[in-house]
Amino acid sequence: MHLTRIRLRDFRNYERVEVELGPGLNVVAGANGAGKTNLLEGIYFGLTARSCRTSNEREMLRLGAEVARVELEVAAEDGMHALEVGLEPGQDKRIRVDGALAARGVDPPRPLVSVFLPDRLDLVKGAPAGRRAHLDRLVAALWPARGSTRAAYARALSQRNALIGRVRGGLAGEGLLDQWDTELARHGAELMADRAAAVELISPAFTARAGGLGLPEPGELRYAPRCKADDAEGIRDELAARRSGDIERGFTTHGPHRDDVALLHGGRLLRTLGSQGQQRVALLALLFAERDVLAARGTPPLMLLDDVMSELDSARRERLAALVGSEGQSVVTTTDTSHVPGADSGDVAVIVVAAGTTVQHPPPAARKAPRRAAQSEARA
Ligand SMILES: Nc1ncnc2c1ncn2[C@@H]1O[C@H](COP(=O)(O)OP(=O)(O)OP(=O)(O)O)[C@@H](O)[C@H]1O
Ligand SMILES: [Mg+2]
Repeated sequence: MHLTRIRLRDFRNYERVEVELGPGLNVVAGANGAGKTNLLEGIYFGLTARSCRTSNEREMLRLGAEVARVELEVAAEDGMHALEVGLEPGQDKRIRVDGALAARGVDPPRPLVSVFLPDRLDLVKGAPAGRRAHLDRLVAALWPARGSTRAAYARALSQRNALIGRVRGGLAGEGLLDQWDTELARHGAELMADRAAAVELISPAFTARAGGLGLPEPGELRYAPRCKADDAEGIRDELAARRSGDIERGFTTHGPHRDDVALLHGGRLLRTLGSQGQQRVALLALLFAERDVLAARGTPPLMLLDDVMSELDSARRERLAALVGSEGQSVVTTTDTSHVPGADSGDVAVIVVAAGTTVQHPPPAARKAPRRAAQSEARA
């Protein structure tokens, strides 16, 4: 499954553009401030109905516009599909699949997406919460049926916390916590099993990709659960042992909501001891390790890589370009196409962005693989 076309209407600095994408590597080039990251964000928004950049969705609306719209064309095994997401402040987002409003809970035909933005380095160097959320998204991508475990755990956690508040205020007896300890431990054990399985699955690929991308010492991914036990009964005992402390502090201090995933390099934590370049390579290795595992299951994600080449040395750029070009679809932004090995070869789609307009080079029709003619609706 891959994207063939994207249309942006009143999205960020784009009034109205249409871009055709090739099935392999696509390069988006342009000066600082031209709109490269905006284009990636537009693709991400079209696929997920969320921003990969901001929690304030209004920012995506072009200044002065009232509705933003992203339309994507997806080539799937059963033919072409059209996805559309509309954003109008104060309204629910409107998602259409092949022209019809998408029903809640129905998954549209769309590729998985993996995104590298410079500020995603926080995944390596930031707090554990970001790594937990990322790991849980991987679990959902690997085993869609297990995606609900995280939400079930979160609900049990918030119920337990609410009850702790009531016990603390003298409004409920401590014994009522037994039931929530059992519930939390049950979902917690499932969540931990899924996380452990996902880390186990991608960790050899992470080590291989980290080495391939030039981390000098062995890279290692390690699940770091908070609980010592890994079964529901054991977790419940650990919760019970901490109950009085929890009541004193007013919340649940122990459990898988405190888990982490350690990224190591030569046995040292990259979070605290890695250089900026090593953290960048580790993040790329993680995203590509995930791609490896998903590709082996027939669902390689679309890779959106923003400004990934700028801080890599030339040897690492070559290795990354080879990896990006090896399989699946990707969109890579750069200020300078000479930073993306192979971009000037003629069979890579290059989209040049300037002040909210786009021009495609070479025109898709002239590329080696035959494709439909481009229609760039660039406007100043
Ligand atoms: N909602 C909006 N409406 C209009 N213009 C916007 C909006 N949001 C951002 N912009 C403009 O978009 C431009 C930035 O685009 P973007 O972040 O995509 O640049 P870029 O090409 O990625 O640059 P860099 O190489 O510096 O990362 C800025 O000029 C900014 O003012
Ligand atoms: Mg940018």
